[in-house]
Amino acid sequence: MKLWGGRFESPPSEIFERFSGSLSFDRRLLEADIEGTRAWARVLERAGILTAAERQQADEALAALLAECADPAFFAGATDEDVHTLVIRKLGERAPAVAARIHTGRSRNEQVSLDTRLWLRAQIDLVRARILDLAAALLELAQAWPEAIIPGYTHLRRAQPVLWPHYLLAYFEMLARDWERLGEARARTNLLPLGAGALAGSGFAFDREALARELGFDGITRNSMDTAADRDFVLDFLYAAAVTMLHLSRLAEDWILYSSEEFGWLELGDEVTSGSSLMPQKKNPDALELIRGKCGRVFGCFCALFTTLKGLPLTYNRDMQEDKPPLFEAAEELAASLEMAAAVVRSARLKPERAEKAVEESWMIATDLAEGLARAGVPFHQAHQLVGRLVLESLKQGRRPADWKPEELAVVAREFTPELARLLDPREGMKNRNLPGGTAPDAVRRALGDAASRLEAMRAATGRR
Ligand code: ARG
Repeated sequence: MKLWGGRFESPPSEIFERFSGSLSFDRRLLEADIEGTRAWARVLERAGILTAAERQQADEALAALLAECADPAFFAGATDEDVHTLVIRKLGERAPAVAARIHTGRSRNEQVSLDTRLWLRAQIDLVRARILDLAAALLELAQAWPEAIIPGYTHLRRAQPVLWPHYLLAYFEMLARDWERLGEARARTNLLPLGAGALAGSGFAFDREALARELGFDGITRNSMDTAADRDFVLDFLYAAAVTMLHLSRLAEDWILYSSEEFGWLELGDEVTSGSSLMPQKKNPDALELIRGKCGRVFGCFCALFTTLKGLPLTYNRDMQEDKPPLFEAAEELAASLEMAAAVVRSARLKPERAEKAVEESWMIATDLAEGLARAGVPFHQAHQLVGRLVLESLKQGRRPADWKPEELAVVAREFTPELARLLDPREGMKNRNLPGGTAPDAVRRALGDAASRLEAMRAATGRR
């Protein structure tokens, strides 16, 4: 079926129909389209276009469609141009007179915006809940080894020791920002576009604010031309999805490294790793690699729509139908990656002795020592030089920090007093980093408590604005 045709002398070609149809992907909007159409029937009743009995008929027919649509047979043989057309055709099979009037004062241009907004709102709520589940898993993992120390890296070289929970809290912060960013995308999504008409505003005045409330929107869009042309809310989501995937990808990369033989201080669960068909010893981090790989696809989705919208003249153009495949793909991959990431986190086990050994066998306390000298009055530049020489000498002799006795240190330079020798122990220097955001045990304990209460607050707010 088609919602147009009178002005044409011949039908569209089979090639054009095949090329332009969107039902294969926009069928995901079916439930949203039914919900929106039920609401539109109420608008038409209030406008005197449908009688109360007809509105009732529409409602019952649409409810029946909703009940049927989970059955794959629902779409069998459908050749409709898009999901909006399909819903009207199916409505017509049950209530022909109502179906003939249901599109009064409404355009598919606003309908597609409405459906996309309803669908995306629910997806954002799902994704935000999964972000919080992953954040919770990170906090659980932090609590499992609250005192463990691990190497912190810059340039992927051992830099300074940090507490295990401190490292995990870095990802907690990224996820908290992702949750917020998705909340902003939700706020721009959750506005009623109906009333925009094709581009000039509906010819049948109705209370848009009241309809917005009925459909759970926070408000209405303000300009009919902008509404017909706007996909910014989809871009906002795709950007937020891309950044979230970026964070998952960095976590994946970290853990692929940390669980390798070369690092060796993190163990991934058997349930999220796979073996090799040839090499019997292998335990491969495929789940993390796939998360890292899917990140590229989601970036592509953002890029695709960003590029599609560039230079489109106002208002609606059929190009905009191409918003949906990248939107659906990104939303699905993001939701799946978050679920997978939480399972990986719940499977992971720290090997605290291995991590601590990595800290102790390298010179990660060098900064603590240089700062200790500076605290004792040595100019930092000189302190840096002195410690650098100590490190160089130690590397030549194959000595770790713990191999130095206080009196031997004093021989290297008289500035190395016996009190400073305690900084050879990584746990000692760490205590000095006791400011908000630092890795001192007290600061980390406070940060963990803070994260747990923020997580609770985010849980309570998910789904709300
Ligand atoms: N399938 C279309 C889309 O996704 C619906 C809007 C069609 N409007 C039009 N003027 N052809 O954008």
